[in-house]
Order: sequence, then structure tokens, then C-alpha cells
Amino acid sequence: MSTIKEQLIAGLNTDLANEYQAIITYITYGATVTGIYREEMKEFFMREVPDELRHAEYLANKIAALGGTPTTTPVAVPPASDLKQMLLNVHRAEEETIARYLERRHQAEQLGDFGLVNDLEEIISDETKHKESIEMILRGL
Ligand SMILES: [Fe+2]
Ligand SMILES: [Fe+2]
Repeated sequence: MSTIKEQLIAGLNTDLANEYQAIITYITYGATVTGIYREEMKEFFMREVPDELRHAEYLANKIAALGGTPTTTPVAVPPASDLKQMLLNVHRAEEETIARYLERRHQAEQLGDFGLVNDLEEIISDETKHKESIEMILRGL
């Protein structure tokens, strides 16, 4: 039976593996996107990278501060052969990411780590903006 703190550390490591996935996904899709919108879409994907990098760095530091070991293994990037598939994949990833952070926020609250609660809320704001900008693009496709 693991403690709330151990469950939180395990959850933060899942989040970190997914932030690493997000970084690799956006770089890979930016590199491989083709078609008439290539230039804009490459820029769009690459614009997300600094946020995800900041989230990953934050999580690695927090996991270490809590006494855990930050994972070095990213979740696998889903393949995509065209722009629409890329956008659908990153939209789903952002949605699932927000759900995971809401669960993490609840665990942080249970543990009484309100600094983490506050930091997670900022990250949730970033991911919500990512999700909404992807939705605006998908709406016009
Ligand atoms: Fe992120
Ligand atoms: Fe994101």
C-alpha cells in the first residue's frame, strides 16, 4: 500500500513522461508536416515546445525535491501521416494532459502542498491555451 506522497510522485513521473512526449511530438510534427500550410504549421508546432520544456523541467525538479527519481523515458509519439491527424493527436494529448493535471492537483491538495497546487494551476492554464489554439485550427480544416 503506497502513501499519498508516493502516489503523487508516481503521478508526477507519468506527467513528466508525457511532457517529454509532447516535446518530441511537436518537434517531429514540425519537421515532417507537409502541404500548403507547412510553414505556418511548422512554426505553430515549434511555438509549443518552450512551454512543454518548462513544464518538464519543473516536474523533474519537483519529483527530485519530493525525494523521487525523475523518469528519463518519454511516452511514445503517435505516428501521423498528414496535418489533420497531427492536429487530432496533439488535441487529444492536450485534453488528456489537462485531465491528468486536475487529478495531480487533487493529490497535491490532499498532501497539503499548496505551492504545487498553484504551480499545477499555471500549467493547466498553459495546456488549456494549447488545446484552444489547436481547436481553432481544426475548426477551419
Ligand atoms: Fe505541458
Ligand atoms: Fe501542451
